[in-house]
Formats: sequence, structure tokens, C-alpha cells
Amino acid sequence: MEFKETVRKRYSCKKFGSRQVEEKKLMAILEAGRLAPTAKNLQEQHIYVFQSEEMLAKIDALTPCRYGAPTVLAVAFDKENVFTYPGGKYSSGAEDASIVAAHMILAAADEGVDSCWINFFDPDSFSESLGLSEQETVLMLMDLGYAAEGMKPTASHDTRKPLSETVTWFR
Ligand SMILES: Cc1cc2nc3c(=O)[nH]c(=O)nc-3n(C[C@H](O)[C@H](O)[C@H](O)COP(=O)(O)O)c2cc1C
Repeated sequence: MEFKETVRKRYSCKKFGSRQVEEKKLMAILEAGRLAPTAKNLQEQHIYVFQSEEMLAKIDALTPCRYGAPTVLAVAFDKENVFTYPGGKYSSGAEDASIVAAHMILAAADEGVDSCWINFFDPDSFSESLGLSEQETVLMLMDLGYAAEGMKPTASHDTRKPLSETVTWFR
């Protein structure tokens, strides 16, 4: 799929059918995350892939936003391996994990796999409940699967500000 078409096609799917994501497509999605740039090339991300009924049930207890997705990724970063920028206000962990996630969500669209970015959960409770490393922060969850019959993008998908509101030129 052409890049422009992929970007347009991606939307947040809020109702999935039971069809599982094929292993080959999932590997292509994970590979797109692997190739993402990170500050100082630290690659501090860690991706968890949840597909077992047991883990998906635990996720359902922590967020209402799985929407029946048969695969959920959790994108985390290693808190002990981030780069702190000059000024000391920000560090790279959340940014790098976001870039990895953005690569993967677009790769999913490119593979014809539907997705939704989820932040409606408490990261500490999530890590504790699923037994993830205390050294990591979970930045986001990514629902992956195929839209249920009749599922359409929500109205917000077509509601974007014009560039005139979000871009300032100096030229
Ligand atoms: C950082 C981020 C967090 C989000 N968190 C949630 C969430 O917790 N639950 C949910 O249903 N959608 C969530 N979304 C999806 C947004 O609501 C959606 O991207 C937005 O309304 C635009 O619609 P579209 O993705 O279909 O274009 C999130 C999206 C982003 C980028």
C-alpha cells in the first residue's frame, strides 16, 4: 500500500471480530517497531504480545478498551536506560516508545490489520497485574485484529484541524 493511503486508511477500531492476526503480519508489525529511531539509538522499548485468554481477561479487568481485539501489544520502555535532554525536564523513554508504537500502528494499517491506541489504563496496576518488569513503564496498549462486521471509523476520524490552525510558517 502506498504510504499516503496507509496514513489515510488507519483509524481507531472500537469493535473487533474474533479472527486472529496472522503470525507473518504480526512479525511485520513488530519489525516496523524494531526499525523505529530512538534517542541515542538506545532502543529502550520492550513490546509484550498478549494473545492468551488468561492475559486478555486480565487486560479486560484493567481497561474497557480492548474492544474484543484478539491481540494486544503493550509498548513499554526501560526507565533505567533513557536519555535525559539538556535542561533535565524531559527524557527519551515516552518519546521513543511513542515512535515505536506509531511505526507499528501504521505498519498494521499497511498489512490490512485494524488497531486502536489505548491509554485508558493505569500503567502501574497494569504492570503489577500482568507481572511485568518493575524497571519498565508501559506507555500504551495497542489493540490489533480485524474490525467486526459493520464497524466504521468514529466521527472523530474525519475531524482534523486544517493545517492553517496547526502550522506556523517563517519564510
Ligand atoms: C495517545 C492516544 C491515546 C488514545 N487512547 C485511547 C483510549 O484509551 N481509548 C480509545 O478508545 N481510544 C483511544 N485513542 C484513539 C483516539 O480516540 C482516536 O485516535 C481519535 O479519536 C482519532 O480517531 P482515529 O484514530 O479513528 O482517526 C487514543 C489515541 C491516541 C493517539
